[in-house]
Amino acid sequence: MKFSTLAVTAGSILAPAAGVTAAEPSYYKLDTLYPTSPISKAHATSFVSYSFEPAFWAEFFGEPDSPRTLTFTLLKNLYDRGARPIIRAGGITMDSMIYDPNQKLSAVRTENGKGGIYRVTIGPAFYEGWDNFPNGTAFVSTLNFGNNSVDIAKDLAVASHQLQGDKILYYELGNEPTNYPTARWQRNTQAYVDQWKSFTTRIGTALSAATAQLTPPSGKWWASSATTDVTGLKVRPSDLIPAGVNSTGLVGQYSIHSYAFATCDAARERRATITNILNHTDLARYADVEIYPSAKAAMDAGAEWVVGEFNSIACSGKPGVSDTFAQALWTADVELLYAVRNASSVHLHQGATLVFQSDQQLNTPGDDGSPGFSSYSLLYPVSSSKRGEARVLPVFVSQLLVVEALSWTDAIQMGGRIASLPTPAGLKESEFSGYAIYDPYTGLKRLVLLNMKPYYAGVGTRGTVLVDIGFHRGASVKRMTAPSVDEKDSAKVTWAGQSFRDGKPVGKETVETLETAEKVAIRDSEAVLIDF
Ligand SMILES: *[C@@H]1O[C@H](CO)[C@@H](O)[C@H](O)[C@H]1NC(C)=O
Ligand SMILES: *[C@@H]1O[C@H](CO)[C@@H](O)[C@H](O)[C@H]1NC(C)=O
Ligand SMILES: *[C@@H]1O[C@H](CO)[C@@H](O)[C@H](O)[C@H]1NC(C)=O
Ligand SMILES: *[C@@H]1O[C@H](CO)[C@@H](O)[C@H](O)[C@H]1NC(C)=O
Ligand SMILES: *[C@@H]1O[C@H](CO)[C@@H](O)[C@H](O)[C@H]1NC(C)=O
Repeated sequence: MKFSTLAVTAGSILAPAAGVTAAEPSYYKLDTLYPTSPISKAHATSFVSYSFEPAFWAEFFGEPDSPRTLTFTLLKNLYDRGARPIIRAGGITMDSMIYDPNQKLSAVRTENGKGGIYRVTIGPAFYEGWDNFPNGTAFVSTLNFGNNSVDIAKDLAVASHQLQGDKILYYELGNEPTNYPTARWQRNTQAYVDQWKSFTTRIGTALSAATAQLTPPSGKWWASSATTDVTGLKVRPSDLIPAGVNSTGLVGQYSIHSYAFATCDAARERRATITNILNHTDLARYADVEIYPSAKAAMDAGAEWVVGEFNSIACSGKPGVSDTFAQALWTADVELLYAVRNASSVHLHQGATLVFQSDQQLNTPGDDGSPGFSSYSLLYPVSSSKRGEARVLPVFVSQLLVVEALSWTDAIQMGGRIASLPTPAGLKESEFSGYAIYDPYTGLKRLVLLNMKPYYAGVGTRGTVLVDIGFHRGASVKRMTAPSVDEKDSAKVTWAGQSFRDGKPVGKETVETLETAEKVAIRDSEAVLIDF
């Protein structure tokens, strides 16, 4: 889309000079629009990324010679828009992953009959299947730390390197050390750091031998991978950086996991409602209180940080909440909150219920021991007793919104810079979220406006917010919408008029045009991307 000059210069939309207080905006008038955050760095094509639980790899991606068409078709929609997601083959089950060079299948679960997975055996096909991803897809090779065995982790690292070395961007040792048995490190940060450095150094030596390099690869590891759960062991990036986790020079990026809600126990399950997951004030609070201190510690050390795994509701989501259109509004808002805070990539987690994760959780696997796919996933990749027919879920359209909002200048592969906007007067901060997106060279280019107020099917009348953005020389508008916030049928959920239930777009693309001075109408539970 062509950038048309606005009636404002880039300078006038930057934060006001020191000592000047911006007037309360009564509208989103472009010429008096002061962001409430600093403007982020320019985002890379890999900002929108994913994490897939290794135990369910075959369900999501098939085998090398029989790829799962639905998943790859879905990912192609992002690729065609310039996105280059980084795929983390990670999650809790990476910590029971064992490499067997003689196994034919990509990933085989060893279960206890009730869906409890205590081992995931992967063969060469696990890595060979990476060739089925779009050209240029990079991966995070994840290694088992749970078994406390350098040999198990080393075998995985060397196999992944031998089979797909040029696709591996980072290695990651262990998932969520915050959830390991207390006996392992006795709540001692330094004990964790020492063991992490010892393992990664020894694995690095094995990798350099395998590649005939003299020195182990530096800057190739993700560090931390902690959750924000309150635990005795403090190993978030903000804890590990001062503890010297990079004294061996191996860390490439710091990774933290973000789950503000959960169905892991009854008390948290009650809080995991549509109304709560769409409270923008609370989403920003969680990002600032739980995640940003680690992000800042990383950036202060001159390092990049990522949300290496996240989703709305831990322990596989909540049917009726995370499988509805609410999840699309949630995902768009949270990904943009982390874009403002300079995450280099955000890895939306995909998987299925893990029985050993919690003995009080809401979700269960299928009665026949088949996967109980997580209801926060982009798709149910295969038909199952628990979730029915294979299909795409309503959340998917949010990925198109975020990818297009940050989309890239072809030549330099540099995407938008983004800042948060104030709440327009008359609206509640908890119900409305606005972002300005700047072209790295030409200034204000787009707005994303999310009306987060829930409109439930058949409950009252649906409200509409009218946003006056003042004078502009015309703009195009793409809309993310559904009949209601609790809509579960992705055939009725659209981005720019198109739905994606079976992976491919259905319907004609609809781009609205906004005349000079025309106000933007956004119904409750709806979002728009305005492109000037
Ligand atoms: C993000 O990075 C930019 C520099 O590219 C910096 O100016 C800004 O303060 C950072 N934002 C946050 C929230 O740390
Ligand atoms: C993959 O991308 C590279 C670099 O852009 C290009 O040289 C190569 O031809 C591409 N391969 C295929 C199979 O498209
Ligand atoms: C790895 O650890 C798990 C959990 O403690 C255990 O069940 C499994 O037998 C171990 N596997 C190996 C190969 O040691
Ligand atoms: C870790 O240290 C190495 C060597 O000093 C440095 O090149 C690298 O940038 C550091 N990594 C991070 C994430 O700070
Ligand atoms: C939204 O979240 C904020 C911050 O956590 C909280 O103070 C407020 O009560 C919440 N609003 C609603 C309607 O729940």
